This record gives sequence, structure tokens and C-alpha cells, in this order.
Amino acid sequence: MHIVIDRSSKISVKEQVRLEFAQRIRSGLLENGFQLPSVRQLSAQLSISLVTAHKVYNSLEIDGLIESIRGKGSFVKYPKSLSTAVPQNIPQAIQNPFDWQLAISDYLPRASLWSQSAIRLSPEILDLATASIHYTLLPLELLQTSIKKSLQQYPHSLGIYSPYQGDSEFLSAISNYLVAQKIPIHTHQLIVTNGTQQGMDLFARTFLGPGDIVAMEVPCFPGTIDAFRLSHATIQPVPIDHDGIRIDVLEDLSTHMKIKAIYTVPTCQNPTGSIMSLKRRMELLEFATNNNVLILEDDPHRELALPPSQSLNKLPPPLKILDQTGRVVYLKGFSKFLFPGLRLGIVAADGTIFNRLLAIKSIADLGSPLWLQKALIALFSNPQLLQYIKKLIQRLEYRSELVTAKLSKDLNPLIRYQKKQGGMHLWLTLPYSISADNLIPIAHHQGIHFLPGSIFYPGEPEQNHLRICWTNLSDDDLPKALDILCRILNQSVNP
Ligand SMILES: Cc1ncc(COP(=O)(O)O)c(C=O)c1O
Repeated sequence: MHIVIDRSSKISVKEQVRLEFAQRIRSGLLENGFQLPSVRQLSAQLSISLVTAHKVYNSLEIDGLIESIRGKGSFVKYPKSLSTAVPQNIPQAIQNPFDWQLAISDYLPRASLWSQSAIRLSPEILDLATASIHYTLLPLELLQTSIKKSLQQYPHSLGIYSPYQGDSEFLSAISNYLVAQKIPIHTHQLIVTNGTQQGMDLFARTFLGPGDIVAMEVPCFPGTIDAFRLSHATIQPVPIDHDGIRIDVLEDLSTHMKIKAIYTVPTCQNPTGSIMSLKRRMELLEFATNNNVLILEDDPHRELALPPSQSLNKLPPPLKILDQTGRVVYLKGFSKFLFPGLRLGIVAADGTIFNRLLAIKSIADLGSPLWLQKALIALFSNPQLLQYIKKLIQRLEYRSELVTAKLSKDLNPLIRYQKKQGGMHLWLTLPYSISADNLIPIAHHQGIHFLPGSIFYPGEPEQNHLRICWTNLSDDDLPKALDILCRILNQSVNP
């Protein structure tokens, strides 16, 4: 376990070390019962004082994440909410022979998506956590036709590597698709990635490292937090309001720190679903230009903006299109309005930023699968794809109304949620004293899974939120899951 301390940071050394441990424990990366280094060892390993090391363990113990036993040492102790929530895939019987592995250090600070993955839950559990579209709503026939066509047309693609940037025909098909969506990005700006998540990882590996400060809107997609934590840069949370990331807070921060990059999901933000206004987008670009900051714009949900925002004339353009200076790196994935299993996306950038991202892509994986890119050319070139998106929006609008009607009828009014502007999530806020983490075991027991809001924070988590996805279940299962959810949440407010 390598812990990097930024000694020039405004955050105290004790707080940095405490957070490093807390995130590893909450992610399940440190196993229940794992013996932590002694106070003396920790102090020597990290070159921190004995008092600081002692304070770190003290506050972890107060948070209920470790237990210190006199004469024996300090041990990870999962709180009740974690003991069913973190992965415990390895049967106990084969865990013990590999105890020696615990002495092998690693560089993994946090992996919250892994720890919350619904994949390991029993299939009977109704999954309100995974953010995808139910397969019956997806254009399966368009995909089948596209794959069949590619195998006949491009058999040679099975015998060669893809260029690192991506297959030229696929890049053209994507560029044409983006142009049709009023996002004029051209092939020379595009690199094919294995999903948006890889785009983030490539950005973080290339531009972020110890000592760098990356500002990030909160609450925020946990996959990005995980990728940025791995770079050991300092993450500076920035709150959002109705119009998007708060520029006044960025301005304030920039008076005493040098922000290197800002991460934002301006359209259908995850988890809140909100859409950044055009005015705020312009202000953000102005701030970035004045302070020479890179922007990482993540845009996987744009196609899922709901009426009235969906009307293309009302939806503000991506920052990448408004940017005149080449400082926006744009990520787009096809997991949200299409198939998550494809694991394909793109990153768009300009100038030397583009070249550096292409270089890291070559190191990361030698290029994305060529046959898959070939298999999707016909899909992205098919005018029916745009028809499918239109129809999908209508069906999601119907679902969204169903969810809102259900919650406004059955949910205790002390539990708040925002009106949906788009995307596939709903962010619910419980009264301050109630922890959504503590409701997870109850939810599993009663047959549903959702994401606790705590994993959407890079620093100290707020625990009184949760996120549900309302697009992933079948028409029959969604009302059942919402019934259970309302029951659990109402009971938490009125035991
Ligand atoms: C904001 C955001 N970015 C990125 C991703 C990951 O997308 P992909 O499947 O394309 O890697 C998600 C998935 O939930 C997301 O919500």
C-alpha cells in the first residue's frame, strides 16, 4: 500500500493519510481483519510523526473503520453497512493459504465501482444501481445487421491490429454521427477508446500526478474519482448549483492554488441529471482560459436529455464546441444510449494534447479491438440510429413520469429529489441524520440494490444521499423495485 502525501497541500497530513485508509477500506481493497502497520511502522514508512500516525488510527476508529486491540495491533473492521456491500468473492477456504499476499504492496487507492458492483448479487435482486438501458429498449436488430455485414465485408480485420487512433472508416462514421448530433468533431481530433472510462484513465495517466490539483464537481461519477485517485493528484471538490459547477468557488480556490484541470459532466450530470446552462458553460471556459486550466468534459448521456431540454436547439452545445482554445478534452461513450457491453467510446482533443493522448493509448492497449470497430460502422452510418434515439427518448420520458408519479405519491416528503432533466439517474436526499450506506443491507434483504451517495464524493462522503437508475429494469420489475425502495426509505425516516 503506497500512500503519497502532498506536503504542500492545505489539507493536513493526518487528514490525507486518514482519507487514504478510509477509501481503501470503504472500497473493500483492505480486507476485513487486515492488520494495519503499527503506529511506529506507519510513522517510519510515511515519514510522519508518531503523534500524527496515532491520530490517523484514532479517527479511523472513531469512524468505525478499524479496531485497535491493546497488545495486538490495529485491524480493519468493516462497519455493518460494508460487510454485505463490499466484494467477498473469494471463498474463505482458499483465502487463507494466500495470506502471504497481504505483504505485497500495491498502488490502488480506491475502487468504488468494483466494491458496489451489482454483478455479484443474486439474480433475484432488482438492480436499481447499474446505469444502463433495459435490453428490450435497445436496437438489437440494428446491431445484428451491422455485425453480420462487417464479417462479410471485412474478414481481413480479424487478422490485423487496429491503428492506435482507431479504424479510419469507423472514425469517419463516428464523426458523421457526431455532426448529425450538432457536435462538429472531425476524424483528426478523435481517438477510439475502450469506453469513456478508458478516456478518463488516459487523461489522468497523461496529465495528472502527485502534486497536481484537479478540480471536480461534486457529487460526481465514482469511476472518475477512482481513476483520478490512482494518479495520486489532489482532488479538489467543487459544488454544483442549479446551473452547474460553481465558478465563484473555482475563482476563490484559484487565489491560493494552481488548478491544473477541471472535470465536469455538463449535460445530464451523473448523479443529479442536471444540465449546465449556456451562460455557465461560457463562464467556465473563460475561467479556464484566464487560469490556463485543462477541462475534461465527459458527455455520455447527451442523447438521453429529456424534453423540453432534448430539443437540440435548447440543449447547450458541448464545451468542446464552444471552446476556441483547444483546452477541452471531450469524452463520449456509447454505453448509455447504446450497448454498455461494447466497451467503446472516443476521446476528442486538439494539438499536442491530442498527440500525448494518442501516445498513452498506444502504451495502454495497442489500440481498441479492430473487429468491433468494423462491426459498428454500419450501425453508426445507419439513419435508423437517429430514429431509434428519438423513440428511446419517448419511452424514457414515459418511464420518467411513471417514476416521478410513484415517488410523489408514495415517498415521505422529507425525502427530496430533483426533477429530471435527463440521463438515467435520480439522486435522492434523506434527512441529514440518515445514512444511505446503512440502508444497503436492508435493501439487499428486501430484494433491491441501489448506490449509496457516499461513493460520489472524492473526499469526506455525505452519507444521506442515494442514486437510483430507473432505466435498467423491465417494465414489470421497475414498479416492484420502487415499491420496495419507498417502503425502505419511508421506514428509515419514520421507524
Ligand atoms: C459520467 C459517466 N462517465 C463515464 C461513464 C462510463 O462510461 P463507459 O461505459 O463508456 O466507460 C459513466 C457510466 O456510468 C458515467 O456516468
